[in-house]
Amino acid sequence: MSSIYARILGTGSALPERVVSNADLAKIVDTSDEWIATRTGIRQRHIVADGETTGDLALLAAQRALEAAGVKASELDLIVLGTTTPDLVFPSTACLVQHRLGANGCAAFDVNAACSGFVYALGVADKFIRSGQSKKVLVIGAETLTRMVDWTERETCVLFGDGAGAVVLEAADEAGIYTTCLHADGGYKELLYNPVGVSAGFSDEPNHGVRIRMAGREVFKVAVKTLDALVGETLQAAGMQETDIDWLIPHQANLRIIEATAKRLKMSMDRVVVTVDKHANTSSGSVPLALDHAVRSGKVQRGQNLLLEAFGGGFTWASALLRY
Ligand code: UT7
Repeated sequence: MSSIYARILGTGSALPERVVSNADLAKIVDTSDEWIATRTGIRQRHIVADGETTGDLALLAAQRALEAAGVKASELDLIVLGTTTPDLVFPSTACLVQHRLGANGCAAFDVNAACSGFVYALGVADKFIRSGQSKKVLVIGAETLTRMVDWTERETCVLFGDGAGAVVLEAADEAGIYTTCLHADGGYKELLYNPVGVSAGFSDEPNHGVRIRMAGREVFKVAVKTLDALVGETLQAAGMQETDIDWLIPHQANLRIIEATAKRLKMSMDRVVVTVDKHANTSSGSVPLALDHAVRSGKVQRGQNLLLEAFGGGFTWASALLRY
């Protein structure tokens, strides 16, 4: 194993001000607080204001992470940002955030792995640090998923929210990130996707056809099975056992998926960070938001082992096992 590790120096997160409850959504589609809460665990979500972007949330989360880390933006040598809802087609949101932070000159790029975007970005950043290429890296997961929600479709519109989270990593002699596992299978495209784009073209439908299409029940089944195998693979790669994990910090799509993964790890739910009730599914934002909330609330302590995992469109799935 390399003697250089990527260690988390600080975390940060940001949520839009506006909170929309399940009861609010029941006024616009045929749903209920009871259905949403029982099937998903979601009680509310934060939604961006007009003109507020993924980059705005990413910037705030990054500033808070840099402050917590005691690192100046000018010290960064890399910014990796996971998103599937970038501000612009280009430049990347990482470049937009870099400039607003005053970190011009360091490498900066986006990673699109849908809901696994942050964990993928963390995996990439880990490799840059382990190779000796980078010393201080900002990793962000940021989304405005509600921009691609069809507010007339109850199957999907109740599931998503907006938000961002970030971590500052530093090269260190001690762990740090032990291992990351990244996977994808593009054969599952049809189960969860957004059917339009710059190259494929847009449609005459509302919002130019930009909307999330999801076969929820099928996605659910594959997610549970895949995450089950992923956590086993991750423990094996790190040479660890279930009992070595202090906290599970999962992607926050559905409480029932989270519970299934916790069961696989033989972990009681009081060792699992759950924010899906307050944030809903914020895609790439979900894992770093949950991490920051767990750190700032005092749940996660220095020296503890954290297992981060995510699953999303692609399909993509990814994990990171680290000592905080
Ligand atoms: O982050 C990326 C990965 N995404 C996920 O992991 C999401 C995975 N999937 C899920 O979380 C769940 O499948 C959902 C929450 C999307 C759906 O839950 P479900 O228990 O699988 O429900 P279902 O799709 O099987 O639908 C059950 C019923 C249907 O009615 P019938 O056919 O039984 O009469 C739906 O029409 O619930 C109905 N339904 C709703 N009812 C009230 C669907 N959406 C709603 C709604 N309110 N919002």
